[in-house]
Amino acid sequence: MMNLETVKVDQKDRVAVITLNRPEKRNAMSPQLHLDMVEVLETLRDKPDINVVVITGAGKAFCAGMDLNEFFMKNRDDNVMFEKAYRAAVEWRGRTLRYYPKVTLAMINGDCFGGAFSIVEGCDLAVAADDARLGLSEINFKIFPGGSVSKSLANLLRPRDALFYGLTGRPFDGKEAARMGLINYSVPGSELEGHVMDLAAEIATKDGMALRATKEGYRMSLEMSWEASMDYTLAKQDQLTLRQQGAWQDQGIGDFLDKKYKPGLSSYDG
Ligand code: COA
Repeated sequence: MMNLETVKVDQKDRVAVITLNRPEKRNAMSPQLHLDMVEVLETLRDKPDINVVVITGAGKAFCAGMDLNEFFMKNRDDNVMFEKAYRAAVEWRGRTLRYYPKVTLAMINGDCFGGAFSIVEGCDLAVAADDARLGLSEINFKIFPGGSVSKSLANLLRPRDALFYGLTGRPFDGKEAARMGLINYSVPGSELEGHVMDLAAEIATKDGMALRATKEGYRMSLEMSWEASMDYTLAKQDQLTLRQQGAWQDQGIGDFLDKKYKPGLSSYDG
């Protein structure tokens, strides 16, 4: 569907799969990879035939974090280039993913270190292979989880877990990532792709505008007072009604009242 220098995109039905594609460097994020991700996410943003975006890595790694050479060393003396790459790096993982109009799902197929935690946290859902290796390795090379990573840890993890792994730099596996709530759950590596694509397909059959409202309602409410959230979600409901031309009432509730399905047990599929 799309092939950039460091990233490729495939589509199956209403699911797009973005693959970080530098397997020889364990999909470490170079400045070019950040620029490619900005471009890919902007291109997919407006596609009405896509409801879910899966992010994964080529080869045996998910993402080995920042490319320590290309990102930190090559631009060491060039502030302009460094800041350009830095802005792209924090924007797509920290802001673009979080408020993306599609559902985002991280499929952690292998090594996931440092800056890659911000991809995982930026995505709405995350599933890993049981034996994936994850770690906040920054302390091991004399630095700390910078860029968007500290904020990602603060958003998602309990203080004890964030500080334990941030301070020790110890690697841990997919099962431990699930225990601490960094991901939804883990499955055996051989089942990961099939499992995640089934999950993506299940979500992708739902109404795209309702999916978007679900994640926006949650994410925006995190930052709001109760009063502001009530007013926002009422306005959001009116927006959804307009955009769907009343479908949630006419079809969603209508078919239930006509005894065609039970929304508590299955999705409207008309
Ligand atoms: N930045 C730049 N290059 C990286 C990289 C990174 N984060 N992670 C891996 N690579 C490169 C290696 O330098 C090597 O390149 P080369 O073949 O040209 O020498 C190649 O990817 C393969 O790495 P290698 O270490 O041989 O693979 P491995 O499977 O044995 O180990 C890791 C994988 C991820 C455990 C190990 O490469 C590593 O510790 N990387 C650093 C992870 C990290 O601290 N990331 C946080 C950055 S914020």
